[in-house]
Amino acid sequence: MAIQENNTRQIHILVVDDESSIRELLEEYLSLEGYRVDTAKDGVDAYEYLKKYYYDIVLTDLEMPGMNGIELLEKANREGMNHRFIVLTGFGTVETAITALKLGAVDYILKPFKLEELGFIISKAVQRRRLEEENIQLKEAVSLYQISEAMILNNDVRTVIELILEKALNELDADAVVISLKETISSPMITRMSKSTMEITMDDIEYTFDKEKIFRLLEKDRYLLLSGKQIDNVRSAHNPAVDIKAYLSIAIGLADRFYGSFCVLKLRNNISFTDAQRKLATIFAERITSLLEVKRSDEGLKIAIIESIESLIKALEAKEPYTKGHSERVSEYAHMLAERIGLDEKSVLNITQAGRLHDIGKIGIRYDALTKKDGLDREEYEQFKLHPVIGANILRPMSFLADIIPFILYHHERYDGTGYPAGISGENIPFGARILALCDSFDVMTSDRPYRTSLPTEKVISELEQNKGTQFDPELVDKMLLLVKEGRIPIKNSER
Ligand SMILES: [Fe+2]
Repeated sequence: MAIQENNTRQIHILVVDDESSIRELLEEYLSLEGYRVDTAKDGVDAYEYLKKYYYDIVLTDLEMPGMNGIELLEKANREGMNHRFIVLTGFGTVETAITALKLGAVDYILKPFKLEELGFIISKAVQRRRLEEENIQLKEAVSLYQISEAMILNNDVRTVIELILEKALNELDADAVVISLKETISSPMITRMSKSTMEITMDDIEYTFDKEKIFRLLEKDRYLLLSGKQIDNVRSAHNPAVDIKAYLSIAIGLADRFYGSFCVLKLRNNISFTDAQRKLATIFAERITSLLEVKRSDEGLKIAIIESIESLIKALEAKEPYTKGHSERVSEYAHMLAERIGLDEKSVLNITQAGRLHDIGKIGIRYDALTKKDGLDREEYEQFKLHPVIGANILRPMSFLADIIPFILYHHERYDGTGYPAGISGENIPFGARILALCDSFDVMTSDRPYRTSLPTEKVISELEQNKGTQFDPELVDKMLLLVKEGRIPIKNSER
């Protein structure tokens, strides 16, 4: 009966007995049964084997000189080794056998034994181990499936990363998992901790490590497994002395693109990483990599779409000297104003982008109506007034621009409610649209137009002052005038 696992891996057994005749007998019998067998003469000898190899079964005598079977079992437990023990015991040591079972041994065999009986107990233990492994694999598979599903359904990288961390914490039997990313990629550090580590904070964990050093090591080796004193090598100078038993860190990213690290920590005693956990941790790191890769290509696609719209606008504006660069300038002013007001980074970015795209709707207006020198007649003006709506309609199918569409739709609203297309007023006009309205008018005033040259500085300032609260948001005008006074927004007068 050749015992092979899935017809690929041979079951590996360590026989530990101080009597050489028993060792030889068992080695011969078990080898004939198809197992791969190593032998050790006592606990000390066996321990060396256990450190080097993974055994499906450790068949050990209890009474041995040096280190006995119980001591060996305890030591293996303490170090988180994952071998299955079956103890060989004489009638006099049945009590000890029970102790061994309490320590996690899976079975015992009474000496003297029949070889068939021994063979049966071993194959039973192997079967049970296989079932357990399959169960673990099934659990892992479910977790990985849930992660894949979230990656497909969820646009938000952060949500998926949180899910991966939660699964990793459970599946890897970890006390803390940390994703550290290079600053340029995302929020730099995300940590999850198990309930068993309540006395340690996430900050403790984050400050424990020298992130830069870990990045350097991972960029080179991709994989870092440390335990005990070795962990000191990656501790930071202001390390709050968190006691870590085992440390595993895996690079996130591809061979030519390093994004950061996925790090798994075990803080409890007697714990190290099993082979299966190390393999699974690698899979988690790969999932994070593909998540970031998807995000990267997604961002790339968005940028390409926006750039192509911008180039359309630029082409349209370039046809006339007085509109050339208009959207770009509006965008610059809007950026400065949004920053000055202290908006958050994302809002500033949205407003800046909206500035570049705000007149996209003019693509739908007859060209001659846009460039007429002697003003528009009523019908042409009604046509012209449609451009914010046309612009919003052009951009609406691009869901990633959803936040900026209201800015574009309402950039010709007036603070007093007499603007278009909706005639909304005051705070009802989206903030970004109020900023654009001001910057748009400012650029029109400070550039030459077909029907007039640009206005001198004093005139621009007085126009803005006069239209505070009617055309423009008064607070925004004050901020804009500050930027002008500081020279941050230069007024390009016609004498240039
Ligand atoms: Fe406009």
